[in-house]
Amino acid sequence: MPIHNFGPPAVLKASIDRVGRAGWTLNYSPDGPIGLLQDKKADLVVASGGTEIGSAVDFATDYMKHTLGFIGITDVALIEAGRLMADEAAGLSAANDQISELSAAS
Ligand SMILES: Cc1cc2nc3c(=O)[nH]c(=O)nc-3n(C[C@H](O)[C@H](O)[C@H](O)COP(=O)(O)O)c2cc1C
Repeated sequence: MPIHNFGPPAVLKASIDRVGRAGWTLNYSPDGPIGLLQDKKADLVVASGGTEIGSAVDFATDYMKHTLGFIGITDVALIEAGRLMADEAAGLSAANDQISELSAAS
């Protein structure tokens, strides 16, 4: 997920609006929503140009984690390729290291 204007790209948001629907990926109960994809894991790769991932102006990463949790996917591994406009090689190298660590652990 690239960060676009501090949020998720519009095309990803449009996909979420099609997927996150009651009766399909979640059900409502008296206690609140229950996500139905509870046996799933997600790897969330976030890329940014200048925005620090996880900072107060990154409205994409927590939104995406919350939305995945809403449909039941709470096991989310975050891979950060942040601030690529500052130092692309370093950002991509850090992201590749995170992917290698995740691969080794699984
Ligand atoms: C329309 C648009 C808006 C963007 N807005 C941001 C932003 O708010 N913060 C940021 O750090 N990078 C921003 N970027 C840069 C991308 O997050 C960055 O290039 C990312 O590594 C890859 O995205 P891309 O493949 O869509 O270019 C923006 C890029 C585009 C095309």
